[in-house]
Amino acid sequence: MADPLDPAPLAPWWRGGTIYQIYPRSFQDTDGDGVGDLAGVEARLDHVARLGADAVWLSPIFPSPMADFGYDVADYCDVDPMFGDLAAFDRVLARAHDLGLRLLLDFVPNHSSDRHPWFLDSRSSRTSPRRDWYIWRDPAPDGGPPNNWISDFGGSAWEWDAATGQYYLHAFLAQQPDLNWRNPDLRAAMLDVLRFWLDRGVDGFRIDVLWHIVKADGLPDNPVNPDWRPGITERDRLIQRHSTDQPEAHAIAAEFRRLTGGYDGERLLVGEIFLPNDRLARWYGTPGAPGVHLPFNFQLIEQPWDAAVLARVIAEYDASVPAHGWPNWVMGSHDAPRIAARVGECQARVAAMLLLTLRGTPTLYQGDEIGIGEVPIPPSQVRDPQELRQPGIGIGRDRSRTPMPWTGDAANAGFSTGEPWLPLNPDWRTRSVSAQEGDPGSMLHLYRALLGLRRATPALMLGSYEPLDGPPGVLAYRRRLGDEAVSVFLNLTAGQVTVPWSGTVLLSTLDGAAEPGTLHPNEGIIVA
Ligand code: GLC
Repeated sequence: MADPLDPAPLAPWWRGGTIYQIYPRSFQDTDGDGVGDLAGVEARLDHVARLGADAVWLSPIFPSPMADFGYDVADYCDVDPMFGDLAAFDRVLARAHDLGLRLLLDFVPNHSSDRHPWFLDSRSSRTSPRRDWYIWRDPAPDGGPPNNWISDFGGSAWEWDAATGQYYLHAFLAQQPDLNWRNPDLRAAMLDVLRFWLDRGVDGFRIDVLWHIVKADGLPDNPVNPDWRPGITERDRLIQRHSTDQPEAHAIAAEFRRLTGGYDGERLLVGEIFLPNDRLARWYGTPGAPGVHLPFNFQLIEQPWDAAVLARVIAEYDASVPAHGWPNWVMGSHDAPRIAARVGECQARVAAMLLLTLRGTPTLYQGDEIGIGEVPIPPSQVRDPQELRQPGIGIGRDRSRTPMPWTGDAANAGFSTGEPWLPLNPDWRTRSVSAQEGDPGSMLHLYRALLGLRRATPALMLGSYEPLDGPPGVLAYRRRLGDEAVSVFLNLTAGQVTVPWSGTVLLSTLDGAAEPGTLHPNEGIIVA
């Protein structure tokens, strides 16, 4: 039977679809505490549907002390009172489905909160039944940490527990102890977490730091990174050879996939994984034992905004995706700098066209559709634990987590009646959803047009990717499916360039008529 939510019945929904990430703390507050909540998500889902996205990924909503703003989970099967309760979640899910949107939750398997009852039990004694659910080790002979591993947030990855005389491992904060996926009972308990939400009707998961979840047997020291220099994050002092990307983790991804595959309706698994192409591709698993559907590809965030570099990166990535896999592209997130801050507002329009015309499932991040740029965070308002632990090297994440400005006419941009937990973008009175609603030339309208065109054009959703030659500064490619072909020409510079294009312009990033044979400064066009 055809799936009523599927726009392209020949391919699973997530191939032609677009994912929109909501960071619930900063989407919409309804109770005046300055932090977004699930009732706010429910009230604003129509924005996502009107934009033309197909699925929403919600960053964590689970009970949490919020040491890492929800990525420290104290109960995997409930909702933090700050966000609402399970009934509020069910209303979000029902509303999403009414609007034709899928809903993905954030599954955080590498670590729990140190307040999770499992960890409280584990640290209570060396003989606790759940001792082995986390990674405990004796001190090194000198009494120091068991090995040289460094936390992703800086400092040793080991925390001393005086009461039981051992260290526990934490790849992130000490308040985020790593779970031991080699323990079968822990594994079974976590698979039950997936079942709990799948049975409730969620359409899949974004899996947090998936490549971290298993560590090499014996926990050997990680090699020193010869390229490290002061001014970059402490994590990079070492190469995470033994703490990440272990073969056993791939087997667990395959287990997740078997479990979700037993449910109807193409439930989706997206893995957060930072690796080079060849190793990223292995996370698709094999045709007989598939892993995640989409191992996140962050290269549009990591690479310089340069046409030649991007052309190479796109071609290499596209070629690295196995036949049984499907590509994907991410340009923003709650962890990454804002795209408009990185490349400027004019190029952010070109970036939107790139993201939404490449071969592969795009993930959009809330606020990028209105081009939120740099948001200065005064030192006294920094909340991100990563920035607090390693200040001043440009890795702060608060700048991308500022509240959604819904309207320029209401207090706090309509986000909250109370003081928002992070400052708003300084230009919120003019850069808001409602302000852009009334301006046909706005970023919001460009995103809608791009998503609309994508949906109406199977070649853009599902077609092949063929690079085209272009002059310096121009990224050009063709997407083709059967008889349908569209070409994309993106001028990544602020100068006029001569490009031999002709045909019917389906969409331009600029107002006004495109001129065949030319690209205006900062112009991107899609041509039939
Ligand atoms: C992921 C999340 C990030 C979090 C980290 C630890 O990278 O995206 O926000 O801090 O995992 O859970």
